[in-house]
Amino acid sequence: MSTRWKEDLVRLGQLGRPSRRAAYSREDLDASMGVFRMEGTAEMRESRQYIIERMREAGLDVRLDRIGNLFGRMEGEDPKAPVVMSGSHLDSVSNAGMFDGAAGVAAALEAVRTMRDERFTPRNPIEVCVFMGEEGSAIPEACVGSQVLAGVRRLDEALDLKTAQGSRLGDLLAASGHVGALMPGLDDVGWFVELHIEQGPVLCSEDTPVGIVESIAGITYLVITIEGEENHAGSTPMRLRRDALVAAARVISACDQKARAFAESGDGSAVATVDCCTVLPGAPSIIPGSVRIGIDIRDGSAGTIRALRRHIEAVLGELEKDYGFRTTTEIVMDYPPVELDQRVIRMIESAASAAGLRARRMASGAIHDAQSIARKVSTGMIFVPSVRGVSHSPFEWTEWNDLEKGIAVLTGTLKRLSRSDLEGEPAGTLRGGGDAH
Ligand code: GLV
Ligand code: MN
Ligand code: MN
Repeated sequence: MSTRWKEDLVRLGQLGRPSRRAAYSREDLDASMGVFRMEGTAEMRESRQYIIERMREAGLDVRLDRIGNLFGRMEGEDPKAPVVMSGSHLDSVSNAGMFDGAAGVAAALEAVRTMRDERFTPRNPIEVCVFMGEEGSAIPEACVGSQVLAGVRRLDEALDLKTAQGSRLGDLLAASGHVGALMPGLDDVGWFVELHIEQGPVLCSEDTPVGIVESIAGITYLVITIEGEENHAGSTPMRLRRDALVAAARVISACDQKARAFAESGDGSAVATVDCCTVLPGAPSIIPGSVRIGIDIRDGSAGTIRALRRHIEAVLGELEKDYGFRTTTEIVMDYPPVELDQRVIRMIESAASAAGLRARRMASGAIHDAQSIARKVSTGMIFVPSVRGVSHSPFEWTEWNDLEKGIAVLTGTLKRLSRSDLEGEPAGTLRGGGDAH
């Protein structure tokens, strides 16, 4: 297999680092090698431009939709047949690794380049896509590009979302030049397959090269504000204070304990994380008057997520009733768990077996654009191992030979889907999608 995809990933990694240093192996990584690509930034523009150039080189027809999703289309024998789509995202969290998202974009691009090299003729058109804003770095919500594409979020409402600095997402995207005239929609799409790094330890610890995702956890993200009373840290007796940070500590510990209890009693997938905390005024000698915390709750079952949320609400209720705190809760994200399509899962299994590769079915604890797309279109996901399960870190790494295997499985899957008329199942009959699950 060509190593073009490896060069693409090394280059994309460079474009996301202020130092522009390249990482060719895990030994090249250190704490300063974090990648940060946020929609609207120069790094993001350059990275998108890089992919657009590679798409054009590969003979793909490049289009952008109104929310900034990018598509490169390889025509099929039957241009009206349902599109087989594959890709991921290029944006990242801050201080990220170089594979999260970028691996799925480079893999999809390599799959179509391989088909061209082999003179493989798909019956269905194949589109490589880059979703806008998967990580929710520019705006506080994740997967907005893929949600608008899937029609589970309105375009005008998404364009009106605000960044932390108060700019409108639509203005940010327009200024970056990477929005087009295409109306986002999946009407002509039959299937979607996303390759992604696992971001967890299962494949690496079992030495299994390929993961086939059966379900993606739901996520609820809450921002809770607790108001107490700001006062002097020296002269206010303990019995007379209303310290908002002490109240927040109760919420944080209740949240952690309850998630651990659910994880032990259920299938182990329940997780809850307090990922940020702002303390006001946050200065010496002052009892904190106000605290804001962000809580990320995830599980494969919507019922468990609801139960965890109810538990947090009960703790907040006690803080109000028994101790006189005022609290507010904002639901920033509430995305349901999804099951992926069993027919696509079997296609991936058959592609892995044809490539002589061991594969295992698994659940995804991380969210992905595939979650939005699966609500409308038959969707599958391929995981490749993350070394020691590390991700959202500059030390995130996937061995090149594992990625090469994943790309082979993705290529085989896309070929099968795009010629499913030859696989015994007429092309288009797999169409249907997640809502029917
Ligand atoms: C996406 O990166 C997530 O937070 O799961
Ligand atoms: Mn991520
Ligand atoms: Mn990702």
